[in-house]
Amino acid sequence: MKLFIKKPIAQLMAASAATEKTLKRTLGVGSLIALGIGAIIGAGIFVRTAAAAGEHAGPAVTISFLIAASGCALAGLCYAEFASMIPIAGSAYTYSYATMGEFIAWIIGWDLVLEYALGAATVSIGWSQYFNEFLHTFFDIHIPYQWAHSFFETSNTTTGMYAAELGTRGIVNLPAILILFLLTLLLIKGTAESAVVNNIIVVIKVAIVLMIIGLGWHYINPALHTPYMIPADAGTVKVSTGVINYGDTFNHGWLGVLRGASVVFFAFIGFDAVSTAAQEAKNPQKDMPKGILISLVICTALYILFSHVLTGLVSYKEFLIQGKEASVTYAIKAAMGPGYHWLANLVTVSILAGFSSVILVMLMGQTRVFYTMSTDGLIPKIFSKLHPKFQTPYKSQWLFFGFVSLFAGFIPDRIVGDMVSIGTLFAFVLVCFGIMILRNTDPHLVRPFKTPIYYIVCPLGALICLGMIASEGWENWARLIVWLLIGFIIYFGYSIKRSHVRHGKVEGATDPINPKFVE
Ligand code: ALA
Repeated sequence: MKLFIKKPIAQLMAASAATEKTLKRTLGVGSLIALGIGAIIGAGIFVRTAAAAGEHAGPAVTISFLIAASGCALAGLCYAEFASMIPIAGSAYTYSYATMGEFIAWIIGWDLVLEYALGAATVSIGWSQYFNEFLHTFFDIHIPYQWAHSFFETSNTTTGMYAAELGTRGIVNLPAILILFLLTLLLIKGTAESAVVNNIIVVIKVAIVLMIIGLGWHYINPALHTPYMIPADAGTVKVSTGVINYGDTFNHGWLGVLRGASVVFFAFIGFDAVSTAAQEAKNPQKDMPKGILISLVICTALYILFSHVLTGLVSYKEFLIQGKEASVTYAIKAAMGPGYHWLANLVTVSILAGFSSVILVMLMGQTRVFYTMSTDGLIPKIFSKLHPKFQTPYKSQWLFFGFVSLFAGFIPDRIVGDMVSIGTLFAFVLVCFGIMILRNTDPHLVRPFKTPIYYIVCPLGALICLGMIASEGWENWARLIVWLLIGFIIYFGYSIKRSHVRHGKVEGATDPINPKFVE
């Protein structure tokens, strides 16, 4: 069986040339970095950081960021080599189809659903928290607990807007579904975010993070940073989804920090968005790797400083109870006093806009990956059906609205967020190994960008990502395995019979392990 049949690069280039005519090469390094930061900063820093600190790492969540960032940077170098080999816009799916073959491309494409679709779900759950905070602050109303939370959560705080609803169990997260619905409509109409809007949102997001760092720094209580890691005897806390026991292996000390890294890893997801703009980049081969790596470095610095301040404002345990929802706004109000309520309110409003742009990019990325997979024959044609007027994949957009809403509406963010992390980490591991293998099997491929000291960078990147995967525990491994099994069933039951590359509909398809097909 030609499992590793490859899509010919010439065919990819021809397809991209068709769209190339409509796109101008206008983006320099600066715009690429803005694009990267626009996709990176979102619920990871404003929602998941507090969860990682509260549940696993305590103030040492700063070290978790360092670990997650090193995994991303090393995998990012491999990713940049991968992207530069095929100088067209695309995702890891497109690149792997041409370099590592169909089966790996399928796994990566299938895995990207966890990154993009469930990523959108996680951010929409965070959006819902800040939306309720917004209603509460500006209009003194809020959506009742049961209509803003999943069935698996129960209100556990006696302060804040949910104080009167102690013990209430969630039913469905309606605001999360609402924002998904609105953005789906926008995407169907094809109102893609312009570079200008993106740049404005990037400036707002970075400004907010800098303001919190700058203004919050004076309010850091050093006592809250001691001990820096959670001690094994820190006890237990009753949370909305059950009980957190700090005595558990991955809830204290260094292993807690590692587990925290797998949680905050979410905050880095999206840097690969830079590669999707390859066709619009002035000098893609040089600027894309730069865009990817510089946006990563900037975000890492911001994240470490930000989390240092956040955990210095309130105790990490508070992030599990009173400060669980809209954690950043909570910390500012609780520690910096009424004089800074304007900052808390500004954060709330900016986050609503900032999160919307991340959700938009993710929902769009998802349907575009499935669009390509559908035109390759690997998934049904419905995913590449375009709207007669708007020319957008509207059926796919609706299907994903339904799919993403199931998670956003009915599953808690910590579970969905973990699934995003594990799925993306797994894709990164494949890319790291893939680059290492390709260097040996295809040494003559043109590589405008080469991963430096690849024999160290690739295995180390894979190792750090595998370490984070290991810390996620058997429940998350099981979820990933089930997801991949579903993918295999579809691949062997459907895709393999219909693949255009496999069935001679694409000229020049090659298979490295079947000499007849080698060019
Ligand atoms: N990195 C993106 C976020 O944090 C996914 O929202």
